Amino acid sequence: MKIQSVTGMHDILPGDQPYFQKVVKAVESITNYYGFSKIETPILEFAEVFSKGVGVATDIVEKETYTFKTKGGDLVSLRPEGTAPVVRSYIEHGMHNLTQPVKLWYLGPFFRHERPQAGRFRQFHQFGFEALGEQNPSIDSQIIQMSYDVLKELSFKNITIQVNSIGDSECRPYFKKILTGYFRSRKSSLCSDCQRRLKENPLRILDCKEEKCQRVKSGAPQIIDHLCENCHSHFKQVLEFLDELELPYTLNPYLVRGLDYYTKTVFEIVENTTEEGKAQGSLLGGGRYDSLAKILGGRDTPACGVAGGIERIISLLKTREVKTVKLAEPKIFLAQLGQLAKRKGLKLFEEFRDAKILVAESFSKDSLKTQLRTADKMGIRWVLIFGQKEALEGFITLRDMETGAQKEIKLDKVVKEMKAKIK
Ligand code: HAM
Repeated sequence: MKIQSVTGMHDILPGDQPYFQKVVKAVESITNYYGFSKIETPILEFAEVFSKGVGVATDIVEKETYTFKTKGGDLVSLRPEGTAPVVRSYIEHGMHNLTQPVKLWYLGPFFRHERPQAGRFRQFHQFGFEALGEQNPSIDSQIIQMSYDVLKELSFKNITIQVNSIGDSECRPYFKKILTGYFRSRKSSLCSDCQRRLKENPLRILDCKEEKCQRVKSGAPQIIDHLCENCHSHFKQVLEFLDELELPYTLNPYLVRGLDYYTKTVFEIVENTTEEGKAQGSLLGGGRYDSLAKILGGRDTPACGVAGGIERIISLLKTREVKTVKLAEPKIFLAQLGQLAKRKGLKLFEEFRDAKILVAESFSKDSLKTQLRTADKMGIRWVLIFGQKEALEGFITLRDMETGAQKEIKLDKVVKEMKAKIK
């Protein structure tokens, strides 16, 4: 048996937890302010949720989703993203009966069988915000503002929001035709993947990272010149809101995103200065998906959302050594000596917990010397020593590790006295 994690999947070790928590805290405070409620969906969904929702011709569904048959014969997928499951849940639980928009947020592990590289893992974590049941463009700008706020809260400075509109079922088919014509006449200059995409979804060629395709792309027609009136007016309003909010956005006429469910607004947020940022790809990506609910079998539900990659954000946080949240550290150590003291010590430890005072211990150790050494290593000043004599006579010895001074405290007074001491 190989003692190593599965390729592309990583442990989040204790040293990384403070970074993780910092991101979670930022997300929680922003979702709370904007009135989003938390939702958790299962890690497994019926495969159709993604093949129908995200699109069979997307890289995600075609190449990257872990799909398998269960023992009961169901075809299921490990979720590669969170939007389709949230929409499935919205339909299943009749959330259209609630006041709209229904604003939901989530955070958890996602799975894509991608080629592992910088910022690209097979198990990674995303947080996401979804506002369902609202078509007003103010929602698009609010989702973009929230995405920006998360990074701002984490002290990111050089970030750019790239925005585009990819139209809807009224204007996109016509644009696809124009685009197909453009690329068909340059077919031999495209990579083999894009030659195939030409048939299935020419928009995806705009997203190709191959240099030869990038060259062809630079002269391609732009969808914003071909939007229908409705999409054009929607996009104009989104940009006006972004201007008002003074958000640092740029128009990227070739931004299409890798998921089929988008309509109208799409956006990505990237770190624009460091090489590291470039290698990682986007930190957050999202957009409007007005047809997804219908595609999944629900009623028409205009919606907009975003998801951010926690590993990518953490990796940049680390390079900048942004101060991380420290886990609360105990200021008291409870050392014990002998069986009776150990027993009574366990109880005392619980009393400290009831009083919400953090106390470190080493109940598995018998030697007082070892325990004092541990307390010293942890940099703890106050050590409570609970020996046989103390346990029998109902007191405890408090040792100040800085001065070496000791004093006795009655057992029933110890929690109160220590609370005052560590204030
Ligand atoms: P996405 O662009 O596929 O969008 O992923 C969102 C973010 O997840 C990316 O910007 C990136 O930070 C992170 N990410 C994606 N794949 C990986 C990977 N293999 N390893 C590490 N991080 C990764 C979505 O998933 C949409 N559901 C977003 C959305 C929500 N659209 C509307 N609502």
